[in-house]
Amino acid sequence: MNITEPLFDDAEIELVRRCLQSKWVTQGPLTAEFERSFAARHDVRHALATTSCTAALHLAAIALRLQPGDEVIVPAFTWVTSAHCAEYVGARPVFADIDLSTFNIDPNRLAEAITPRTRAIVAVHLFGKAAPMDEITALARQHRLSVIEDAACAVGTRYRGRLVGAIGDVGCFSLHPRKVITTGEGGMVTTNSAALAALIKSVRNHGSTGPAAGADPTRPYSMSTFDNLGFNLRLSDIQSAVGIAQMAKLNGLLDERRRIALSYTALLGSHRGIICPLDDEGHTYQSYVTRVEGGRELRNRVMDRLAAAEIQTRPGTHAVHRLGYYANKYSIPADRFPNAALAEDTTITLPIFPGMTEQQQAAVVEALGTAVRS
Ligand SMILES: Cc1ncc(COP(=O)(O)O)c(C=O)c1O
Repeated sequence: MNITEPLFDDAEIELVRRCLQSKWVTQGPLTAEFERSFAARHDVRHALATTSCTAALHLAAIALRLQPGDEVIVPAFTWVTSAHCAEYVGARPVFADIDLSTFNIDPNRLAEAITPRTRAIVAVHLFGKAAPMDEITALARQHRLSVIEDAACAVGTRYRGRLVGAIGDVGCFSLHPRKVITTGEGGMVTTNSAALAALIKSVRNHGSTGPAAGADPTRPYSMSTFDNLGFNLRLSDIQSAVGIAQMAKLNGLLDERRRIALSYTALLGSHRGIICPLDDEGHTYQSYVTRVEGGRELRNRVMDRLAAAEIQTRPGTHAVHRLGYYANKYSIPADRFPNAALAEDTTITLPIFPGMTEQQQAAVVEALGTAVRS
């Protein structure tokens, strides 16, 4: 059983077919439609499609003008590119430990990490559960910091009734196949700021400013000007065709994920030694991440047994401070962030995907329970 599977049907195929027939395949009308749909669903003024969440985070760091000498606070348990976005612009990621019960940044550890050089916080909504945004935005206001929401896992996630991605200055979503909706690879930047949106649009498109090439019908040969240093981080209309079809399925996909996740929690609740993820009503369960009581060896033995039963699992994510790039560059001791380390060592992500049957779920629960007991 795979850890996850995207759901595609004739809707994606038909939209891709129409896109190819139109012969317009780079960023164009379908990307604009996908962006409008994403923005409306996430209650945000601007949604800008890009090639990945990592590209979205890079664009956010550039748009917020983070630079060498700046510090950016990042949870120590997250995907590595939550931190890379600071490195890309020469800033320094400063890690803060997490709350083990939510897997998200611990606001007390965040407050302790703030220095006069701090310029921004990367608020990660890990596995689809919102980070503590009230505490984060209060600290940001108090210390005049920007907030980048790493919402890679959080399409449709709510925090106290509000959709994430527009609570901070910039939101960054992933459309990788392990996420709730996918375009193969892809990402989305969200913001309510017209100025940030304009800069992100420009940097996404080679740094182009002013009207697009050929926009003036009386001078079809006209070229854009380039006042910024930019990249090519555009999403193609072929991918956006898939994205439009996926958006139409989003509410159903989210409902199904929550139903499966809550059923896992009910079924696993009585198993000693297994800790289920903490629910809240805005949690979208991009991943269903349990912890086994015990250490890395026991966890790995359990994962080996599940693999032998042909059930695919993964650790939750990384304790980023222990990864070679950061451990070596900043000489961070492995035991510096104990909760992040424990989370990396003891988490198991279970299969969750649309169409998962009760029998499949029962098989996972049975195999996990047996593996933990033996
Ligand atoms: C928290 C987090 N941030 C960033 C990313 C990077 O997303 P992408 O693969 O779209 O670049 C991921 C991917 O899993 C993630 O989980």
